[in-house]
Amino acid sequence: MTQPSTEWREHVAPDEAAHLVRVAKVIGELQRARSRKFGRGRALHRKQLLAAIGTLEVLDGLPDHARHGLFARPGRHRALVRLSNGGPEVQANRVPDIRGFALKVLDVSGEATFGGTADHQDFLMINQDRAPLTNSREFIDFMEAATPGPVSGVLHLFKAHGLAGRLGRLRELFGMLNRKFNGFAAERFNTVAPICCGPYAVRVRLAPAGSPPPGGRAKDIVADMRERLAVGSLTYNLELQFFVDEATTPIEDTSVAWPDAETPIVVAARLILPQQGVDAAAADAEAARFDPWGGLAAHRPLGEVMRARKVAYFESQKGRDAA
Ligand code: HEM
Repeated sequence: MTQPSTEWREHVAPDEAAHLVRVAKVIGELQRARSRKFGRGRALHRKQLLAAIGTLEVLDGLPDHARHGLFARPGRHRALVRLSNGGPEVQANRVPDIRGFALKVLDVSGEATFGGTADHQDFLMINQDRAPLTNSREFIDFMEAATPGPVSGVLHLFKAHGLAGRLGRLRELFGMLNRKFNGFAAERFNTVAPICCGPYAVRVRLAPAGSPPPGGRAKDIVADMRERLAVGSLTYNLELQFFVDEATTPIEDTSVAWPDAETPIVVAARLILPQQGVDAAAADAEAARFDPWGGLAAHRPLGEVMRARKVAYFESQKGRDAA
């Protein structure tokens, strides 16, 4: 097995500052357009599907390379979870979409990313092990084109890529969106973009563990989770997947899945969602700020996509009075 490496590097393009101004503009316009239609809400991941409270148990006996930040000491933390559809629309859950799993770990104390002290650590994950687009420029081009509506976004993909590229890119995007989603109790979730774990770089993942309480009578992904949590608890392993080298585990290309077979993976914690009626946490989760930059300096987000997200999430939080 390849060893975890601290030799990761970030790349900053000379025109990044101008790009970040554009990120804020495009995200703000997208959010305002959808808020006129649906009411105040997030620019992306607008539709909250379900909220839950839980406990994150950091495990004892972790290897040295995992023992940083939140994972430095074993212990229990309260957690808040927001499950969402990824798009800017509010639409039926059967429509193919990226699914979001946002996790806020509370009762944390340590140096924050931007100085001062952090009392929480957020992890934002999706049901994919890679992003549909390579970098935030492609992502923002797509979002700008999609602001009038989803169809214009697809037309943009046709125009933006050459004859050879466009069909491949579209197939890839639709393949991801159409991959059967087996529900939040059964799927794996991934931060896709890397963060620090002390001097190392990791992607963070959640994998269902143990046997989930029965559900699945309902076809709808929300009803499925409600049924399960009404009768029992759900457990997920929180895994750290370590950077090994730029070719195998690129920092700057989120469209590449980091291969399990060539990367050290550590189960660092267990997330437990106990039996509960899920409506209790709904208002808190809707109002909360889940932000990849909200947390410990030891888990600073890495790479160009993450820096663009710093601007995008702040813009979206301002647009829904959560900043
Ligand atoms: C590449 C990996 C990414 C992952 C895993 C991811 C995941 C998520 C998740 C789970 C949420 C929902 C948070 C919640 O429930 O409150 C979210 C929200 C959001 N995402 Fe991302 N995202 C990614 C990339 C991006 C990029 C590249 C952008 C734009 C540059 C972006 C912009 C947003 C915005 C604006 C929100 C709404 C923020 C708010 O108002 O709270 N995301 N993302």
